[in-house]
Amino acid sequence: MDLFEHQAKELFAEYGVPVPQGKVAHTPEEAREIAEGFAATGTARVVVKAQVKTGGRGKAGGVKVADGPADAEEKARQILGMDIKGHTVHKVLVEEASDIAEEYYFSFLLDRANRTFLSIASAEGGMEIEEVAHTNPEAVAKVAVDALAGVDAAAAAEIVRQARLPEAAAAGAAELIEKLWTVFVKEDATLVEVNPLILTRDGRVVALDGKVTLDDNAEFRQDKHTAFADSSATDPLEARAKEKGLNYVKLDGEVGIIGNGAGLVMSTLDVVAYAGEEFGGVKPANFLDIGGGASAEVMANGLDIILGDPAVKSVFVNVFGGITACDAVANGIVQALELLESRGESVDKPLVVRLDGNNAELGRSILTERNHGAVQQVDTMDGAARRAAELASR
Ligand SMILES: Nc1ncnc2c1ncn2[C@@H]1O[C@H](COP(=O)(O)OP(=O)(O)O)[C@@H](O)[C@H]1O
Ligand SMILES: [Mg+2]
Repeated sequence: MDLFEHQAKELFAEYGVPVPQGKVAHTPEEAREIAEGFAATGTARVVVKAQVKTGGRGKAGGVKVADGPADAEEKARQILGMDIKGHTVHKVLVEEASDIAEEYYFSFLLDRANRTFLSIASAEGGMEIEEVAHTNPEAVAKVAVDALAGVDAAAAAEIVRQARLPEAAAAGAAELIEKLWTVFVKEDATLVEVNPLILTRDGRVVALDGKVTLDDNAEFRQDKHTAFADSSATDPLEARAKEKGLNYVKLDGEVGIIGNGAGLVMSTLDVVAYAGEEFGGVKPANFLDIGGGASAEVMANGLDIILGDPAVKSVFVNVFGGITACDAVANGIVQALELLESRGESVDKPLVVRLDGNNAELGRSILTERNHGAVQQVDTMDGAARRAAELASR
């Protein structure tokens, strides 16, 4: 999960990383009130910053300096609703303007290729680091971080030295970097990036921007991370699926997909996309893996989510019987249909079912006997994909 800048800065502040004072506004009036609060303490100049999960906001006009409360309201009015690289701005961060002497770059990230953590630092910040690395590679220091040793004061000082940050910023930057490492480890982040890291005219080193990616796999031990979830950005179907513990990902197409086993579902997506080409470019509507030993209830929950997607025109249930044999899955499908109908949800979209593997014959005969109007059986994966695509194209 990526965090908004204001969330990243809230985390930074918890760990003692210096950040500008700021508050989030959803309306121009709110931005004005926040600026009035700053003005009352003697800080007239504020910066109004678009809160969207993409970089380059400054260049896009999403970061503006305001001279006081009235100007802050005006700048917020210009920024709210703006589209930055496909992200609509719903909120702005209003923060005290910093008096910038110099801008640097710093980040910690997971270096998968080298199976380690990496710090990247440069005395040339503010702009995109990829650009600096391209035009002036020797200005970018890359220092590997030993996961067990971590980053202590000496390691932080070494990063600063290799990045050739000026003497005036060295001590402050090293202290800040050591704290950022604690953020990285304690919060289970895979990326902590500060661009720019600044030296102020009065000699302080401050994180002026913040980008943090949290590792979703660590969610189980990071209770407070749920508070960062951005409900406005998550797909409502995905949110419902998550509540029910389903491995579901919404896609753009029309053929709903349910399968048992992630590998089988992945190849089902390919086969359906391929078959769909013949029918005007019909595509899979989702990824849904109900797992090996799926019960009728899990099947019902899965069908419920998929049938609740207005884009879905047909559903392909692709099951390879293993430890959970096809007869158990067939019974699960029958019970799932009954469960849905008892909940008052009529199943009228066509369901193409392919059962193969352990006890396939028995499973097929259970479905044939039940003779549900929505269910059609096709015995091969390719044939079933083709049928589902055809039905979706009608
Ligand atoms: N609080 C602030 N005070 C002064 N200048 C700022 C402040 N926040 C941002 N800026 C300026 O705006 C630039 C872009 O802001 P930044 O937060 O890095 O957004 P982005 O990386 O999305 O463009 C910074 O490099 C800095 O020069
Ligand atoms: Mg930035």
